[in-house]
Amino acid sequence: MDIKSKINTKNTPKHVAVIMDGNGRWAKKKGMARVFGHKNGVKAVRETIEAAAEINIKVLTLYAFSTENWNRPKKEIDVLMSLLVTSLKDELKRLQKNNIKLECIGNIDNLPKKAHKELLEVVEKTKDNTHLTLILALSYGSREEIVNAIKKISKKVVNKELLTEEIDEKIINNHLYTFTLPDVDFLIRTSGEQRISNFLLWQIAYAELYFTNTLWPDFRKEHFFEAILDYQNRERRFGKTSEQLQDRNEQTEK
Ligand code: IPE
Ligand code: IPE
Ligand code: MG
Repeated sequence: MDIKSKINTKNTPKHVAVIMDGNGRWAKKKGMARVFGHKNGVKAVRETIEAAAEINIKVLTLYAFSTENWNRPKKEIDVLMSLLVTSLKDELKRLQKNNIKLECIGNIDNLPKKAHKELLEVVEKTKDNTHLTLILALSYGSREEIVNAIKKISKKVVNKELLTEEIDEKIINNHLYTFTLPDVDFLIRTSGEQRISNFLLWQIAYAELYFTNTLWPDFRKEHFFEAILDYQNRERRFGKTSEQLQDRNEQTEK
């Protein structure tokens, strides 16, 4: 039986986030420059998007460039940014065909003009698509996102639009870049690193974490489906006991 058919499509995570890591090491292993790895990571992006769409995942967030990645050598940043432009151009048709909406989180004003423009164009052109929402985290840092949220909330308090007592989790959530999205259910990181690297810190509070040694350019649909199967074998308790969850399941079955 192929791996995809083992997936219970009624119990897929609503929101999957992926830290696409390992491009540089993939290239190095082949005796090539790091940017060769980035170029070969594009196919993995495409496969992951298609795989998510095939099993009815509603939101897929891909970590493409962090606020900290601006500290890389300029040459590498330039390649990543031009890859972004060409990939967006190439993907538009496919996004339309598969009814996928593109959105973006992060400080995108920092992107080079061309990449910024291309991005906004694809966002605009796909805004009515409904099958899957694809979020690109670009120039994204979770701490920066939280700092921005606190600034926006403070201003509202100063302007008396909001009382300090009214600040709750929902208000904070509503001031993050991800305010329209459900929490992350499942976080995948490739390349063997087991860290979060400033990604969606608030939104992963109860996410299931999955780490695989596969380097990003080698990541294919089967790897994605394998990860989803792993997710489906876990029990998400959200602080409750296993027995409480069993009881609830029995009630809904009745
Ligand atoms: C992920 O691969 C891509 C980005 C962070 C932009 P890396 O470039 O981090 O590859 P490694 O981790 O050095 O192998
Ligand atoms: C995280 O990967 C950022 C992205 C995948 C875009 P990094 O390779 O930048 O993370 P660290 O530096 O190893 O933590
Ligand atoms: Mg890395």
